[in-house]
Amino acid sequence: MKDVAGKTAFITGGGAGIGLALAKVFARAGMNVVIADLRRDHLDEAVAVLEKDGANVLAIQLDVCDRKAMAAAADAAERRFGNVHLLCNNAGVNIIRPMDQATFEDVDWVVGVNLLGTFNGVLTFIPRIKAHGEGGHIVNTSSVAGIITGPGTAIYSATKFAIRGLSDALRFDLAPYGIGVSVLCPGTVSTRLYESEENRPARFLGKVDDTVLAQRAGTGELFRKVLPMGMDPMQVAERTLECVRQNRFYILSHREVDQDIREAYDEMLAGLPDIPLDPERVKLEAGRRQKKYDLLKLLKDQS
Ligand SMILES: NC(=O)c1ccc[n+]([C@@H]2O[C@H](COP(=O)([O-])OP(=O)(O)OC[C@H]3O[C@@H](n4cnc5c(N)ncnc54)[C@H](O)[C@@H]3O)[C@@H](O)[C@H]2O)c1
Repeated sequence: MKDVAGKTAFITGGGAGIGLALAKVFARAGMNVVIADLRRDHLDEAVAVLEKDGANVLAIQLDVCDRKAMAAAADAAERRFGNVHLLCNNAGVNIIRPMDQATFEDVDWVVGVNLLGTFNGVLTFIPRIKAHGEGGHIVNTSSVAGIITGPGTAIYSATKFAIRGLSDALRFDLAPYGIGVSVLCPGTVSTRLYESEENRPARFLGKVDDTVLAQRAGTGELFRKVLPMGMDPMQVAERTLECVRQNRFYILSHREVDQDIREAYDEMLAGLPDIPLDPERVKLEAGRRQKKYDLLKLLKDQS
């Protein structure tokens, strides 16, 4: 999507952090912006900031886990601005908890918001973007934690790896319709992600005792210290717009993670067995690969 001016972006989790920065950057580039967020207070603050900046903005209170509400939000966006062209599935929550201490509620909540919320956005908007035929783009927010992991990140990383997998395959499905797909994988960004626990609905609280409360407070405190040292979300958002315009799949914002990525892939390649290549299977894989190349070429020709 080279030309964005006059088009409309729908951003989940647009009330704060990276989502709000995306809204600012898109609006400055001439787009109408719809910010959808669970938190009314975040939306109110964001609208004030965006309107002061001269943005055409619509704010919608939305839990991305709620599919009916997602469809209603898409309808509201279209009533206000017409067709939606750019979808950013950005809403997310974080958790750091070793699996031996995690609960089913932790898993249901984080998978529900981060991963199922992304599927909900994708399935709600694909038919609409396909139908208007003006092209479009979908940006799914994964993370560097969707490429590498660390202790305590199993639940969060599982969702972010899955978002990367979903996005990688999605670009092939949408290539014939002129709809681009990117996956945004930021490193540490200075946002309010440390407030994640405040965004956990009661149904996902589980049994809360003093140990659980202390653990959650500890994670929040750690994030309160670390996140402000992260990148300015505006820098991530500017990089995102640049990559959407260039139709790039990977949107990486943090140069300093290069070593982690290299090590992860080297470790994977080192897992290959030292056995003779089977010519028939080599041919099979080459055929599969060629189909991907053809679709990628189609995408490149469109951008
Ligand atoms: N901050 C980082 O270091 C970092 C790094 C990599 C990836 N990310 C990802 O970036 C995305 C944005 O996070 P952020 O850092 O800007 O955090 P943030 O907490 O500042 O913003 C997230 C927004 O999502 C909203 N939200 C939470 N649950 C929701 C739900 N169920 N439905 C709708 N909205 C909901 C929150 O109210 C908040 O306004 C997330 O997907 C996060 O995982 C963040």
